[in-house]
Amino acid sequence: MLYIGIDLGTSAVKLLLMDSEGKIVNIVSREYPLYFPHPGWSEQKPEDWYAQTIDGIKELIRDVDKSQVAGISFGGQMHGLVILDKDDNVIRPAILWNDGRTTEETDYLNNVIGKEKLSEYTANIAFAGFTAPKILWVKNKEPENFAKIAKIMLPKDYIAYKLTGVHCTDVSDASGMLLFDVKNRKWSQEMCDICGISVSQLAKCYESYEAVGTVLPEVAEELGIPATCKVAAGAGDNAAAAVGTGTVGDNMCNISLGTSGTIFISSRNFGVDKFNALHSFAHADGSYHLMGCMLSAASCNKWWMDEIIGTKDYAGEQKNIEKLGENHVYFLPYLMGERSPHNNPNARATFIGMTMDTTRADMTQAVLEGVAFALRDSLEVAKSLGIDLKRTKICGGGAKSPLWKKIIANVLNLKVDVIESEEGPAMGGAMLAAVACGEYASVEEIANKVVKIIDTVEPEPELVAKYEARYAQFKEIYPTCKPLFEKLL
Ligand code: XUL
Repeated sequence: MLYIGIDLGTSAVKLLLMDSEGKIVNIVSREYPLYFPHPGWSEQKPEDWYAQTIDGIKELIRDVDKSQVAGISFGGQMHGLVILDKDDNVIRPAILWNDGRTTEETDYLNNVIGKEKLSEYTANIAFAGFTAPKILWVKNKEPENFAKIAKIMLPKDYIAYKLTGVHCTDVSDASGMLLFDVKNRKWSQEMCDICGISVSQLAKCYESYEAVGTVLPEVAEELGIPATCKVAAGAGDNAAAAVGTGTVGDNMCNISLGTSGTIFISSRNFGVDKFNALHSFAHADGSYHLMGCMLSAASCNKWWMDEIIGTKDYAGEQKNIEKLGENHVYFLPYLMGERSPHNNPNARATFIGMTMDTTRADMTQAVLEGVAFALRDSLEVAKSLGIDLKRTKICGGGAKSPLWKKIIANVLNLKVDVIESEEGPAMGGAMLAAVACGEYASVEEIANKVVKIIDTVEPEPELVAKYEARYAQFKEIYPTCKPLFEKLL
């Protein structure tokens, strides 16, 4: 049998075809535009997602026996607000996870409703990118659109709806809406009341590995696949990536270096950090996880390479980096503000420490290191909760760089296990589809059978010590700049 994993990302949709043994048969990717209508805003059109997904699937399965396609599932960019009217038409462009327009609504939720109540209802506090503040923003700023809302969905759920006709979501993605009682894996009536919506406007919530239905007859016909092909609820991209990298069960870690950067720690038990600096979400394997999310990770390097120094030769630029642990230039990677752990949409990116002898390579190195230091900030929060990690998996576009993996291993002082494919969310999506179709009994079973570690990057004690000193300096930059960021608006 064949399974399709759809990773609905921010820059592109990645589609992966996997066979019953977990072998990758084909990978296809299709890009779509990202709109920044105001500084700090970030939007996409759900119609673009669907058009590119369908186009990509056609290419993905062009040369295989289509009758073998048994299941489809997802990893999707999280937190995005998709609103549909009573006829299931998209009301306005989706407001994405890295959109910072909701400062007022986030402050209202955290300060007027109060962090304690939010944490009690949902296990989380409000962050600008979460979905509930966006719903309040639409209510406050676009009342005519708010009045039209019949269904509230997350990005990948829009694709599931178009494929099956079912309004569905899953526990991991629902966790990032601030409308979900994570501990009890159900919608929070209290949060719906606070946002002025009803539970019936939300989609039915499934476990990630559960089938929500089969493809609609017209979709089956268009794609040439059987109408019995099942669609499983899927997961938020980070939970899906965790499945794809075998980060399931207790105390396993995965780092994703995509547009965003996340550190994801799986846990069999529900837990909340008392300052809510890390997100406490449901996992796609039926359990829970903690996660720190930085808004710009591989996108910092992409911005620096493509927009600023004007090259596509990422590996070529990295070849000139020789002095790890000795760079006197620092980079704060807050190009879209920052989520974990600072929760500050007004934070901005900064280079600091340049001198006349600073080279282009030093600046490139500072960008890679700045992302690693910012991930370390979230790791420090996890350590303060008594979480003891020795190793991590890694995935996402940035994981293709051997140098960046080495920097991460040494800045975080973790062994970095490299797996056969760094296609985390798309692979996880295909694996969830295989579980939904009964090919494997559980997410843990398929992860144990399919995910293979091919290399480990070991931290080197001397370099770890050098980076420890550099991190101590990095940590001082944000608090020093913070008052200034508030004035730069
Ligand atoms: C996680 C988050 C990002 C997006 C990226 O909380 O906002 O990782 O899911 O697609």
